[in-house]
Amino acid sequence: MRLDKFLGSCGLGTRKQIKEFVKNGMVSVDGEIAKKPEMAIDPTVNEILFSGESLTANYKEFRYYLLNKPQGVVSATRDNHDTTVLDLIDTGYDNNLAPVGRLDKDTEGLLIITNDGQLSHRLLSPKKHVEKEYEVHTKDPVSDADLEKLEAGVDIGDDEPTLPAKAFMEGDILHLIIHEGRFHQVKRMLEAVGNEVVFLKRIRMGGLVLDPELEPGDYRELTDDELNLLK
Ligand code: URA
Repeated sequence: MRLDKFLGSCGLGTRKQIKEFVKNGMVSVDGEIAKKPEMAIDPTVNEILFSGESLTANYKEFRYYLLNKPQGVVSATRDNHDTTVLDLIDTGYDNNLAPVGRLDKDTEGLLIITNDGQLSHRLLSPKKHVEKEYEVHTKDPVSDADLEKLEAGVDIGDDEPTLPAKAFMEGDILHLIIHEGRFHQVKRMLEAVGNEVVFLKRIRMGGLVLDPELEPGDYRELTDDELNLLK
């Protein structure tokens, strides 16, 4: 990787500023003042200091975060009007993080944020059938007959009905486990049984469960065990 690209990914500034930093001798690579912004470096091998502070000590090529997405925030990387999930993540590195899939603006809960495009692709691939579990608060009570319909698959206006799912009640809250990711799927499934979602929260994706310690808006890095569950 080029030194200037790495420095950019650390959020140090524009290309022009980074050029200046290097020109002014503020960047060193393995103890030597760097002379060329375009020099090749490997942040997993070289020790890179900026103004004497190590940029590589905590460097990892891939980052994985578990966010409890709050309501009112959009699952995008950039947006002109709304706060995005990436606005909530402050890592010190600007290394192409993106949310794994989307939750609606008014949906809360588990969202993985990573720059590991391969993992993201695998988790979202319809062929992999990764389970997503939602807690669904509904306007009207959900009957046993509704549960059966939701499990069997309902017509939500697409070419095909939804695939078989799991649906059960925990008190007044419906748990719906689906392994597709169609647009507004849960809301449309509830509409299909004459009901309405009033609050939606994702609590699990594959083997990864939402950490109850995380308040909406909080996030933390995934542990190695959690990452292995996803891989
Ligand atoms: N289904 C929905 O309707 N909305 C979400 O945010 C996620 C699943």
